[in-house]
Amino acid sequence: METVRLSQRGSVAIATIDNPPVNALSASLRAALVDALSRAAADPAVEAIVIAAAGRAFIAGADISEFGRPPVEPTLPDVLAIIEGSAKPVVAAIQGVALGGGLELALACHGRVAAPGAKLGLPEIKLGIIPGAGGTQRLPRVIGAAKAFPMMLGGEPISAEKAAAFGLADRIVEGDLVAAAIALAQELAAKGAPVKTAERADMLTQSDRETFEVLARDAAARSGDMPNALALIEAVRGVFTLPFGEGLAAERALFLKLVADDRSKALRYAFFAEREAAKVPGIDEGKAARQIKQAAVIGAGTMGGGIAMCFANAGIPVTVIETTQEQLDKGYARIRDTYGFSVKRGSLTEAARDQRMALITPKLGLEAAAEADIVIEAAFEEMSVKQEIFGALDGIAKQGAILASNTSYLDLATIAMATKRPQDVIGTHFFSPANVMKLLEIVRPAGVADDAVATAISLGRRLGKVPVVVGNCFGFVGNRMLEQRTRAAERLLIAGALPHEVDAALTGFGFKMGPFAMSDLAGNDIGWRTRKSRGRTAAVADAICERGWFGQKTGRGYYLYPDGARAGQRDPEVEALIAQVSKEQGVERRAMKPDEILARLLDPMVNEGAKILAEGIAARPGDIDTIWINGYNWPAWRGGPMHWADSVGLDVIVERLEGLAAESGDATLEPAPLLRKLTAERKGFADLKARVA
Ligand code: 3HC
Repeated sequence: METVRLSQRGSVAIATIDNPPVNALSASLRAALVDALSRAAADPAVEAIVIAAAGRAFIAGADISEFGRPPVEPTLPDVLAIIEGSAKPVVAAIQGVALGGGLELALACHGRVAAPGAKLGLPEIKLGIIPGAGGTQRLPRVIGAAKAFPMMLGGEPISAEKAAAFGLADRIVEGDLVAAAIALAQELAAKGAPVKTAERADMLTQSDRETFEVLARDAAARSGDMPNALALIEAVRGVFTLPFGEGLAAERALFLKLVADDRSKALRYAFFAEREAAKVPGIDEGKAARQIKQAAVIGAGTMGGGIAMCFANAGIPVTVIETTQEQLDKGYARIRDTYGFSVKRGSLTEAARDQRMALITPKLGLEAAAEADIVIEAAFEEMSVKQEIFGALDGIAKQGAILASNTSYLDLATIAMATKRPQDVIGTHFFSPANVMKLLEIVRPAGVADDAVATAISLGRRLGKVPVVVGNCFGFVGNRMLEQRTRAAERLLIAGALPHEVDAALTGFGFKMGPFAMSDLAGNDIGWRTRKSRGRTAAVADAICERGWFGQKTGRGYYLYPDGARAGQRDPEVEALIAQVSKEQGVERRAMKPDEILARLLDPMVNEGAKILAEGIAARPGDIDTIWINGYNWPAWRGGPMHWADSVGLDVIVERLEGLAAESGDATLEPAPLLRKLTAERKGFADLKARVA
C-alpha cells in the first residue's frame, strides 16, 4: 500500500499521507515522503506543495515502536531539513492531531492551516524524552519560548483556535482544508522564496528570554525523577544561545540519550501496554456492543456521585438513585460542589457545569432505573446488600440492560445469582475519586455475555477511562495485589520498621503516598471491617482500630493530625504500640534500609501477580501494569510491578521471596510456580507473549 500519494491541483502538488491508524512517521513513510517531495521539487509545473493526511490524524508523531532500534534513514530530521529547505513553499494541512514529530513536521513547513477541532502538541515529555526533530528549536521561533516551553513541559496539546491565537496555525479553515492549504501555498509562492522557520528570530526577544528563564527555574525545582525536564530546559535555552544548526544538534543528542534511558523505555512500554489491555481475545469491541443512551447509578455516596459525573462529563444522561431524600440531597450537593470547585479553579466553564448538572437526575427508589441501558450499583460493600439490589433490579430493569456492580472485592457470580439474567451482570470497578481516576477494571464473571463485555469496554472509552478486562476473584487484580502490600506493610512494622519509614520508602520509589498515610486518608476502619468479615487479623492494624484511631477523620491513625492537619506527624504512642506487638510476638526489632523495605513490600505483589497470570485473571503482564499505573499511582516511569520485576531480575525476586517465606513461616509467600518457571527458563514476564492460562 502507498503510504504517500502524490496528486496535483493546478500548480500545487499534494502529498497525502496515508499510514493507518494514525499516520505515525515510520521508516517506510519517511522514505515515501522524501520520494514524493523530490518528485514535486523536480516537476517544473509545480510551484508549491501541500502535505495533507488521510484518516483521523494528521500525524501522531514518530513511530514509537521504532525507538531503541538502530536508526533507519532517512531520519525524521533529514526529512524535515528537506521540507524546510524546499525552494517551493510547503504548507501543512492539519486535521485531527499533529503530535510530536507530526507537529515538528508542520513546523518545518512554511505555512500551516488547521481544521477546527484539530489538536497540536509536543507530548514527548510523557514518554520520558524531549522533541527530537527540531521541536525545541522551531516552536519557540514560531510562538516564542515563553509559550513554547510550557507546551513542551506539560505535553498537553492545544486546540486549533489557540494555535491560531499563538501564530502556530496561519489559518483555521471550516470546510475544504486542502483547498485552503492550496490557496495559502499559492500565496506564499507568489511572494517568492519561502521564509524558513530556522531563520526566524522575531519572537526571540529579551523579554521572551526572561520569561522563559523564570519558567525554567520553576520547572527545574519540580523536575523530580524525570531527567527530561532538565534536558528540555537545556534544549530550549539553545534557541537564545546557539545558532539553529547547533541547537538542533544539541537537541538530537539529548533526545537520543533520553530514548536509551530506562525511564523512557518504561513509559513507552506503558503506552503500548495500555493500548493492548483493552483488547480481549474473542471480544470484538466494534461488534455487537449494546447501545448506551441512558444510565442509572445506585447510591449517591462519594463513589456513586463520582460515577454519575463520569456519565455527565461524557454527555450521557444519568439518574442517581438513593433510598432516602436526605442521602439523595447530600449526594447531589456533593456533585454540585465538586463541579463548583472546577469552575472556581477555571478548569470548567459555568455553562459546561450547568450542562452537566442538567444531565444528572436525582431520584428515590430503584424503579427509577427502569429506562436505563446500564445500571451501576455503588451501594454498601456487603454481599447481602448487593444481592437484594440485584434481585430487585431483575424485576425492574429493561430487557438487555447491563447490570453492573462497582464492588471492589466481592464475587460477581454470586451477585449475578440474585438475578435470572447472569448474561447481563458484570463488574465495573471505578477508582476513587471516580471522576478523576483513569482506571476501569471490568470484571468478567463466567456467565456474562461477550457483547456485554464489549459494551463495557466501549463505554469505558466513552467515559475517558482506561478499561482493563479482568477475571472474577476476590479483589480482582488491583485489590488482590494491594492486599499483599498491606500485609507486607504490617509485617514490616512488626519486624522493625516504623510507619514513616515504610511510607518514605514508597514515596522515594515514586508513589505519591505510602500505605500508612493512604490508610489514614481512606479510613483504617475500612480494612478492619474487611478483615473481620473474612476472619483475618493484623495485630498492629487491629490494635490501632480498637482504639478508634481511624485516621485523618478521627485526628489520629498511624500518624497524628492535630487541628485537622492533612500531613501526619509521627505518633510516639503508635510507635510504642508497635514495639509492644513485636515484643509479644517474640520478634527482635531491627532497623531496615529503604531498599529492603521496598523489596519486602513489592516482591509479594509481584508473586501475587504471577498467580493472577497463571489463573488467567489477567490476560497479560501489561494488563497488571496498566492497572497499577492508572488506578494505584504506581510511577509510570517504573512501568508497573511486572515490568519492575523484570528490571530487578526474577531470580533475585525468587530468592528474596524464599527468604521472606522462611522468616515469616507464611507458605503463601513461597515463589509462585510461574515465577519459578520463568526463572528456570531465564525469562522475564516480558517473554509471556500470549495468555498464560
Ligand atoms: N507510534 C506508533 N504507534 C502509535 C503512535 C505512535 N506515535 N500513536 C498511536 N499509535 C498506535 C497505537 O499503539 C494504537 O495501535 P493499536 O491499534 O495497534 O493498539 C493505534 O495507533 C491507535 O492509538 P490509540 O488507541 O491511542 O488511538 P486514539 O484515537 O485513542 O488516540 C492518539 C490517538 C491521540 C494519536 C494517541 O495514540 C497518542 O497520543 N499517540 C501518541 C502520540 C505521541 O506521543 N506522539 C509523540 C511521539 S514521540 C515523537 O514524535 C518523537 C519526535 O520528537 C522525534
